[in-house]
Amino acid sequence: MSPEFKVTPWEVSGEVDYDVLVERFGTNRIDEALRERMASYGAEHTLLKRNVFYSHRDMNWLLDLYDKGKPFFLYTGRGPSGDTHLGHLMPWIFAKHLQDVFGATIYFQLTDDEKYLFRSDLELEDTRSMAYQNALDFLALGFDPERTRIILDTENIHRLYPLALKVSKRVTFSTAKAVFGFDNSNNIGSIFYTSIQAAPCFIESEMKGENIPCLIPCGIDQDPHFRVARDVAPVLGYYKPALIHNKMFPGLEGGDKMSSSSPETTIYTTDSPKAVKRKVGKAFTGGRVSAEEQRAEGGNPEVCAVFKYKFFLFEEDDAKLDELVSRCRSGDILCGECKADLSAKIIDFLTEHQRRRGEAEAFIGDVTLDGFDW
Ligand code: TRP
Repeated sequence: MSPEFKVTPWEVSGEVDYDVLVERFGTNRIDEALRERMASYGAEHTLLKRNVFYSHRDMNWLLDLYDKGKPFFLYTGRGPSGDTHLGHLMPWIFAKHLQDVFGATIYFQLTDDEKYLFRSDLELEDTRSMAYQNALDFLALGFDPERTRIILDTENIHRLYPLALKVSKRVTFSTAKAVFGFDNSNNIGSIFYTSIQAAPCFIESEMKGENIPCLIPCGIDQDPHFRVARDVAPVLGYYKPALIHNKMFPGLEGGDKMSSSSPETTIYTTDSPKAVKRKVGKAFTGGRVSAEEQRAEGGNPEVCAVFKYKFFLFEEDDAKLDELVSRCRSGDILCGECKADLSAKIIDFLTEHQRRRGEAEAFIGDVTLDGFDW
């Protein structure tokens, strides 16, 4: 077992051991009982069934309150540092499912401030225009406009600031250093930033004037922010936000996390069919060096990026996925065929997504918090 991996909100490196991560972060694994409980409110989502959403904090507490007639709101977000890729969509797809099942309002925070502070190559104008593009991708997934509010940090700061202040007063520099690994070279904005990401956990309570529970679906890399938020919540008189965490969406090169910094192994929501075919065509697979060898010895789906894509998002039918595994292992299907199938599925998905993304431009103004103008 290798502990040689790193997961922070700003960096994921090495081969992530998700079991070890649960222990490191002190979260809880989603067990069979919780999976069944969640499925009982609506159809079981593939991402839950396949353990992609695999860790949580306080889900049972949240559902107990819900059962007693106390609804919760959802909160998730995106740091706008570039175009949206398939990995970003994954937690949002699950968030949309949660909105449908629980009828919950969702707040979507676009942290143009965060990416400006943490990325030396980006100006505020850049992160703001990327935020607009990212918001279109979010809305394209079909969130209910009546129950969706988009927060752009630099625009809606008057809503966030009083909450962020309250949080920041209770978080010491030494906590920030211990949780995020800051040192004396970090700019002072980045040290304060976690209180801005904490603020939406309490926004619905603040706006409604009563305590309302919050559920955050997010990548497990974001958990450190909310660990801090959860520590201060009771001191401020709010509920601790509950969380449900997903594993990272893999890159086409076979790595653990699809990364915007390597465009050829990343599929963006705006990619053309040609680009999708080219990128999938070059993906890392579990195939052998020659077709003959693969026919004889079979491939290895466990390490294969093409298989991972099907597992995460592009093959919802369990029976078909199982069949693929056995056909791959027995050498019955070769990588070319499997890649062509994945490309076709991604292209179908993106064609529809791009259409809806265009439609979102017409109503994005209606779902921004306090009706700000992009
Ligand atoms: N920090 C996140 C990112 O870089 C953006 C974010 C803000 C977020 N609030 C969130 C993500 C809540 C998940 C949940 O992408």
